Amino acid sequence: MIIEPRTRGFICLTSHPKGCEQNVIDQIEYIKSKGAIDGAKKVLVIGASTGFGLASRITSAFGSGASTIGVFFEKPPSEGRPASPGWYNSAAFEKEAHKAGLYAKSINGDAFSNEIKKQTLDLIKADLGQIDMVIYSLASPVRTHPDTGAKYKSVLKPIGAKFQNKTVDFHTGVISEVSIEPAQGDDIENTVAVMGGEDWKMWIDDLKSEGLLSEGFTTIAYSYIGPSLTEAVYRKGTIGRAKDDLEATAFTISDSLKPLNGKAYVSVNKALVTQASSAIPVIPLYISLLYKVMKEEGIHEGCIEQIQRLFQDRLYADKIPTDDKGRIRIDDWEMRADVQARVAELWKEATTETLPKIGDLKGYEKDFFNLFGFMVEGVDYDEDVNEIVEIPGLQ
Ligand code: NAI
Ligand code: NA
Repeated sequence: MIIEPRTRGFICLTSHPKGCEQNVIDQIEYIKSKGAIDGAKKVLVIGASTGFGLASRITSAFGSGASTIGVFFEKPPSEGRPASPGWYNSAAFEKEAHKAGLYAKSINGDAFSNEIKKQTLDLIKADLGQIDMVIYSLASPVRTHPDTGAKYKSVLKPIGAKFQNKTVDFHTGVISEVSIEPAQGDDIENTVAVMGGEDWKMWIDDLKSEGLLSEGFTTIAYSYIGPSLTEAVYRKGTIGRAKDDLEATAFTISDSLKPLNGKAYVSVNKALVTQASSAIPVIPLYISLLYKVMKEEGIHEGCIEQIQRLFQDRLYADKIPTDDKGRIRIDDWEMRADVQARVAELWKEATTETLPKIGDLKGYEKDFFNLFGFMVEGVDYDEDVNEIVEIPGLQ
């Protein structure tokens, strides 16, 4: 079939297998061009199919020659209906990994559930024995608790007071005023239950109690801080509480890993266009201004550049540099004082009329469509493609 983008709000309903494949190949080429990283050799990536998780899987496999197991939640294709992009990404990743002689298998299902945890543990036992690294990169709006069956929904709300600021519809470029009511009732608890650290700890506890973690094991999860511009709705909002919880969980996990000389880390990453971040109000406007400034300064990075630098210069450096809260910072270029001062100035000037000039709306849009395999260089979109693609190592 000929596949074209079909958008509804901040999501795209279709995705292109060839475009997704090309994205993965480009990321692999980037990692190869940067040379070998002396990193983990047996790696489990939870949330492995898109964004930072996919970049982490690619960096592990093609930077360190690691065997990887990827867990994700993606929609398979059916006749006339393309899969979700993470499906095609994973198919392309495994095809390339197998070509390179690397072990790569995947599990598609709800990572929060006991069933998927058990299936993953069984696969590790059967194929790898033990693992030396877990990358935890889930971004989900919902979670069903595996023990109680309670269903939690995360919300993106400020805490204490209404939030009012500019936002952009990145499809039309129209800037408008958005107003978000503060969290109520169980909003905070629910968001922490979905995006906080409980599930990360459950994974590590389960793996540890089955003896599947090697001596010197490490695990890493991803967080975000961002500027004061987005603070009320992000870091000091409901999602920020979940990130506080995730960051605190790193210490709890580290304690439990002491007998193995293991450690848990949180890395604070840069704001980037992913399916998760496009859904957050205000963030797309911030990102389009940030991209403009960072590209002008020659310090713009995408997920793959971020993770490559995280592994090379932080995680596998002789001594892992952390901030006063024990976090790895790879958002250092985003948070540079000159970059933030410039973004804050542009923010004040941003209107529907000025944005095309002062912001990188084009870059935002391209990155957004790229997530779904569209607007990718070297792909012929007039070509008939088969939407039915298999993931070679899918269990
Ligand atoms: P993403 O939406 O690209 O990736 C989410 C991944 O989680 C996908 O592989 C998806 O299949 C998987 N997933 C979602 N629900 C699942 C479930 N129930 N079971 C199994 N897999 C499931 O998101 P992104 O942006 O890469 O986010 C990953 C982490 O990075 C999150 O913790 C996010 O907060 C963090 N982060 C994101 C930033 C951004 O600007 N995008 C900045 C800094 C941190
Ligand atoms: Na991810």
